[in-house]
Amino acid sequence: MKGLFISFEGIEGTGKTTQARLLAEYLKARGQDVLLTEEPGGTQIGKRIREVLLNVEHREMGSLTELLLYNASRAQHIHELILPALKAGKVVITDRFSDSTTAYQGYGRGIDLKLLKSLDNIATGGFRPDLTCLLDLDAETGLRRNRGANKIDRLELEEIDFHKRVKDGFLKLAEKEHGRIRVIDASGNVNDIQNRIRETVEGFLKSSIN
Ligand code: TMP
Repeated sequence: MKGLFISFEGIEGTGKTTQARLLAEYLKARGQDVLLTEEPGGTQIGKRIREVLLNVEHREMGSLTELLLYNASRAQHIHELILPALKAGKVVITDRFSDSTTAYQGYGRGIDLKLLKSLDNIATGGFRPDLTCLLDLDAETGLRRNRGANKIDRLELEEIDFHKRVKDGFLKLAEKEHGRIRVIDASGNVNDIQNRIRETVEGFLKSSIN
C-alpha cells in the first residue's frame, strides 16, 4: 500500500506544530498508522542540525551555510524516516519541508531561486508532499503569538520585514502549485483551524480516490 505524505507550512506562530499533532491524533483515531515528524529535525542527525541552526548564539552563520544545513537535515530525513514510512503504507505528517527553504532562504534571505532548486534536486530529487497545508496568518500576529509563548530562536530574531517576505513567498508558492498547496486561514481558535484542516484533508482524500 502506498502511504500519504502531508506537510504543514507557514510563518512563525501559525500554530503548525499543534495543528499537525491534532491532525495526527485524528487520523490515528480513524485507524491510520501515522508518523508525525518535523524539519529541521526528525532524525537523530537532523535534531543535531536543528540545534546548530536555531541556536541564538550562532549569529555569525552565513546564508549559504544555513541553506546547506536545512538541505542536509532534509536529505537524512527523507532517507532514514520518510521514504521507509511511506513504503510501509503510513501517513507521514511533517511540520515543515522544502517549501520552508524556498520561503525563508529564497524569499526571506534573497538567495537565488534557481540555486535553491538545484540544491533541492540534490537533497530531495524533487520529492514533494502529496498535500501541503499552508497556515496563513499576518506576520505581526504570528510573531506576537510566539513571543507570548516565549518561543524565540535564531530566525525569529529577524526583523518583521523578513517575516513578511517569507509569508508572501509562501503565498507565491501556493499560487504556483495550487493543486498541492492549500492555503488555510490560521486566525481564530485552535479548534476552528483544526476543523478547516480536517475539511481540506478529507476533501483531498476523496478527490484522490475518485
Ligand atoms: P520551527 O520548526 O519551530 O518553526 O523552527 C524552524 C525554523 O527554521 C523556523 O524559523 C523556520 C526555519 N526554517 C528555514 O528557514 N528553512 C527551512 O528549510 C526550514 C525547514 C525551517
